[in-house]
Amino acid sequence: MMPSKAFIRLVSLGAIFLDNVLAQDTSQDGLIWDKLETSPELKWTDCYTQLQCARFQVPLNYSNPEGDAASIAVIRFPSPLANTADYKGPILINPGGPGGSGVELMVQNGAELSQVLGPNFDIVSFDPRGVGRSTPRASFFDTEAQRRFFDTSFDVINATSDGLARIWARAQITGALATQHNQKNIFEHFNTESTARDMLRIVEAHGRKNIQYWGFSYGTVLGATFASLFPDRIDRLVLDACQGVVDAENYFATLWSNNLLDTDKTLQSFFDGCFEGGPDLCPFYESSPQAISQKLDDLTHTIFLRPVPVQTKFSYGLVDYERLRITIFQTLYSPYEAFPRLAQGLADLMHGNGTVLYQILEQPVFDCACGAPAPLMSIPDGGRAIMCTDGAEVRDTVDELEPYVQGLLRDSQWGEVWASIRIGCSAWPKQEKRHFKGPFLGNTSHPILWIGNTADPVTPIAGARKMAKGFPGSVLLTQDSPGHCSIAAPSVCTIGFVRGYFMNGTLPDEGVVCPVIQPIFSGQPVDIGGVLGPQKRSPSASFSGGTEEKDEDLVQALAHLRQNFRVPTPF
Ligand SMILES: *[C@@H]1O[C@H](CO)[C@@H](O)[C@H](O)[C@H]1NC(C)=O
Ligand SMILES: *[C@@H]1O[C@H](CO)[C@@H](O)[C@H](O)[C@H]1NC(C)=O
Ligand SMILES: *[C@@H]1O[C@H](CO)[C@@H](O)[C@H](O)[C@H]1NC(C)=O
Ligand SMILES: *[C@@H]1O[C@H](CO)[C@@H](O)[C@H](O)[C@H]1NC(C)=O
Ligand SMILES: *[C@@H]1O[C@H](CO)[C@@H](O)[C@H](O)[C@H]1NC(C)=O
Repeated sequence: MMPSKAFIRLVSLGAIFLDNVLAQDTSQDGLIWDKLETSPELKWTDCYTQLQCARFQVPLNYSNPEGDAASIAVIRFPSPLANTADYKGPILINPGGPGGSGVELMVQNGAELSQVLGPNFDIVSFDPRGVGRSTPRASFFDTEAQRRFFDTSFDVINATSDGLARIWARAQITGALATQHNQKNIFEHFNTESTARDMLRIVEAHGRKNIQYWGFSYGTVLGATFASLFPDRIDRLVLDACQGVVDAENYFATLWSNNLLDTDKTLQSFFDGCFEGGPDLCPFYESSPQAISQKLDDLTHTIFLRPVPVQTKFSYGLVDYERLRITIFQTLYSPYEAFPRLAQGLADLMHGNGTVLYQILEQPVFDCACGAPAPLMSIPDGGRAIMCTDGAEVRDTVDELEPYVQGLLRDSQWGEVWASIRIGCSAWPKQEKRHFKGPFLGNTSHPILWIGNTADPVTPIAGARKMAKGFPGSVLLTQDSPGHCSIAAPSVCTIGFVRGYFMNGTLPDEGVVCPVIQPIFSGQPVDIGGVLGPQKRSPSASFSGGTEEKDEDLVQALAHLRQNFRVPTPF
């Protein structure tokens, strides 16, 4: 979910891409957005490559529309068929989080999303209120340097014997800093209901009445909120149920406790996939999945006692217990992309070389003019502001948190990572919290298409089933893959149904399960060419959802998305 520290991390997951990320010129960012005037109409200006940007005015407080305004950074890949009979309007996209930046999503993936969904649509995204280039923005620090020196990216409870108490104590400081930066209760406005209302305004500003939307992870909570508030304003709604927040009731209770039910299954798919791949394809191979699991436990214990120093051409640091745990957890989101690299990193680490493992979450070494105000880009604070504002107040003490953490740990060994989400809200400023928190129900003007993965690390498919019940007629499409969000795995079948749904409104039959086109350890290089193997057409053509034509382009666009579209994690 949220792009906290994790956001930058997402973008750089896989050091293979750090060069690309660095090459990407975000310095033009300030120039682009500073120049745009905020307007209640969408006034598009060409920006980045092939994209258009606009600053869109909405009320900061929808209960007081004459009061202060907010400015939403909106971005689109325009339909090449605009002004023709084939034009079908905008599809809005939310990448998850909460706090994920739609601008960054589009800069990385706009052209591929257009290719996957078809030229008939404008592909539109935005930085949600409080986030990134939208203003006012949530920030708990005056400068980027201050933020980096209080980095909590690698908080892992069992790293030290006082881990829980330490993370809690740091959350008290973050809460106090948030309170000091909460002038006029500004954070209260950074809630999901208001963002749903912003989306309706964006749709209307395109001259349309009803929404077409594809939401990932937390984006399903946003989409379900929209559908509950405006059930008669739905043309198409695809809710890609990844990332634990899909159980919206649990999310709005700030519990985050239904997310890890399938997480260990995803890690198991690493052990199984590595074993099936064999020693040639998986350098961390052992004679059974069980033996691979044991080897990882032993390695983790060794690293707990003996961190490994690393220096690369971009940065330096330690591979210690925290970094190892967080790195493995992050790879669970995108097994097809990240497991081969993880296997290499672990195998090298066995021999005392931490470089590859370290590079998976590498960020360039931090540098800035001391005292400069934080630049207008995505920072972790936005996501935390949204989730703590949306969620019920948390005032747990360390003693009260102990059984909560133990409960998470009963579901999964990853409880020690996940717990910091709720803990992070434990000193959040007091709020009225009058925003919509459910129930999630509605007779929508077009049925919702839900998508769930069979082994999603943080959004067990049970959550999608539960949510779908509130919206009669909606259909749950299952993708038979590990990973977070359908996009994390290569399935031409799934994307065929998504395309058919957006183009024609058609839904799959209840109970359809989409296969993927390659195993996790396929030996294909992890690049665009990686999925163009002979297996490409093999799996059940009957599930193809009607998109066999132009398969190659589509498969390539999907591979690009898999590499570059990182659903942000919420911590
Ligand atoms: C939003 O406006 C309403 C109506 O004026 C007001 O009661 C409420 O306190 C405002 N919310 C915030 C967070 O300022
Ligand atoms: C990890 O920390 C939690 C919270 O303090 C504790 O309940 C649990 O026993 C610890 N686990 C291990 C293996 O130390
Ligand atoms: C560690 O591995 C990296 C990546 O394979 C390699 O470039 C580097 O030379 C290795 N370092 C040592 C000390 O062997
Ligand atoms: C949806 O429609 C059904 C059948 O008319 C009705 O029973 C149900 O209460 C409606 N649900 C909502 C949330 O309006
Ligand atoms: C939409 O329906 C038409 C007519 O049935 C069909 O030819 C086309 O392939 C469908 N489009 C998609 C993307 O499924």
